[in-house]
Amino acid sequence: MTAFRGAVTLDGPSGTGKSSVARGVARQLGAAYLDTGAMYRAATVAVLDAGVDPQDAEAVARTVAAARIVVGTEAGSERVEVDGVDVAARIRGAEVTRWVSAVSAVPAVRRQLVAQQRELAGAADAVVVEGRDIGTVVLPDATLKVYLTAAPEIRAQRRAGQLGLRDPAEIDALAADLRRRDEYDSSRADSPLRPAADAVVVDSSDLDQQGVVDRVVALAEAALVTGDRT
Ligand code: DC
Repeated sequence: MTAFRGAVTLDGPSGTGKSSVARGVARQLGAAYLDTGAMYRAATVAVLDAGVDPQDAEAVARTVAAARIVVGTEAGSERVEVDGVDVAARIRGAEVTRWVSAVSAVPAVRRQLVAQQRELAGAADAVVVEGRDIGTVVLPDATLKVYLTAAPEIRAQRRAGQLGLRDPAEIDALAADLRRRDEYDSSRADSPLRPAADAVVVDSSDLDQQGVVDRVVALAEAALVTGDRT
């Protein structure tokens, strides 16, 4: 097999197992890995720590512009820093998860982080980049674009498994929350969540994680062969 060179974009809603799949694909291809959601989460930490109202778009934009956000690009480890402080654990907490949608909807924040994402992706010979708008906005010329999806009920069951929940009413509430967030992310004015016209849509409802990784790796290798011929 030829070493993979180029960019694979992995977009899609929450709860599809996108991060685990993206890391697995990066490892298998020997590629760098960029989690753009971690960057929006780090920006949210900066906003919350500054005591700024996450719904005040102007103050959010100013605060994020002044923050130094550093993310690692290795599939095997997670490095996320804001102004030199390690925030890798904090970005997954409930407070950040609650406010990250508002922060990531601010156009100036998106412009800043998209520029940084392009720079980080451009520095690697081979890279897997995951997010919501990578194939549509960040890397429109990527070698392979994948849009990963799964039925909301399946995503809710997977999330419930991770959280150790069994009560059907709680699982229904998770599914409703996922639908609400899909709706929010898909309908925002700036860079809404949607598959790029040239993305391959992979439905993970009936596949386990390794099954999805294998499918994306096969698509990446096929894209490379096709690309070599042109
Ligand atoms: O993938 P995640 O849950 O870590 O993403 C966190 C939030 O950031 C989520 O609300 C969507 C947003 N996001 C975005 O708007 N654009 C991206 N490229 C990645 C994430």
